[in-house]
Amino acid sequence: MDNRSVVITGAVQGIGRAVVLKFANNGYSVAINYRNPLKESEAKALAEECSKISGREAIAICADVSVPENCKFLIDETVRRFDKIDVVVNNAGIMKYSLLHRMSDEDYRQMVSSNQDSVFFMMKYAGKHMLKKKSGSIVNVASVAGIYGSSALSVYSATKGAVIAMTKSASVEFARKNVRVNAVAPGMVNTPMTNDFTAEEKENMSSNIPVGRFAEPPEIAEAIYWLASDESSYITGHVMEISGGLK
Ligand SMILES: NC(=O)c1ccc[n+]([C@@H]2O[C@H](COP(=O)([O-])OP(=O)(O)OC[C@H]3O[C@@H](n4cnc5c(N)ncnc54)[C@H](O)[C@@H]3O)[C@@H](O)[C@H]2O)c1
Repeated sequence: MDNRSVVITGAVQGIGRAVVLKFANNGYSVAINYRNPLKESEAKALAEECSKISGREAIAICADVSVPENCKFLIDETVRRFDKIDVVVNNAGIMKYSLLHRMSDEDYRQMVSSNQDSVFFMMKYAGKHMLKKKSGSIVNVASVAGIYGSSALSVYSATKGAVIAMTKSASVEFARKNVRVNAVAPGMVNTPMTNDFTAEEKENMSSNIPVGRFAEPPEIAEAIYWLASDESSYITGHVMEISGGLK
């Protein structure tokens, strides 16, 4: 394979980390984005691990992708280091539980900026680059909550619904320039995001999932990789539910 490169946001832990390792295992140069400067050594260690696996360069870039200028920087810096970007995985996101009428304005704005603004700005700047070179593939991480809604997750669901709508619209705009845009909609996944649930709460939730358990991050990464790769070359504007049947 020619030297392909990928940018993954929110990538030091959880689903993002599994996606990083999946692309490295398939020979990609990987740009690992993380937000918290305290995670620098963890991000750099992951980049080193990727280089060993892929034999390609891997870089760690600290940037809060809810800020437009940072998304531009993340794309520009990756192009500077790798010459081009073939794939973007917009994975960064936060989830805050609250009934709608008790949700704080601050939590509302944080979810909109980290989950929705980030995807818009990353697609805007990556899109300019990919449309110019007439190739690319973008995979956005939404949620089944963005399709069906979920109690105490109205704002989170709304941001993920927006990601799905942007995915579908951008896929039509970008299609003639050979740039595909798809999304995955995971159900419940064992990551730091769901670590706060007690074992009992997880058991109760699992009983409502048709397959009877949470997903593991590599099960989501597998689908993201496939949607990004040439193996799915005729698929665009698609939202793949990876939820063990959970609606
Ligand atoms: N875990 C689940 O059950 C589940 C289900 C459906 C969808 N998702 C989605 O999957 C994605 C990954 O989540 P996860 O479960 O791995 O959770 P996680 O909390 O382990 O990872 C999310 C990562 O995104 C980063 N992040 C958040 N906002 C950011 C920002 N503004 N800039 C840069 N990085 C930022 C966090 O620092 C964290 O490293 C999220 O978009 C989440 O909404 C998760």
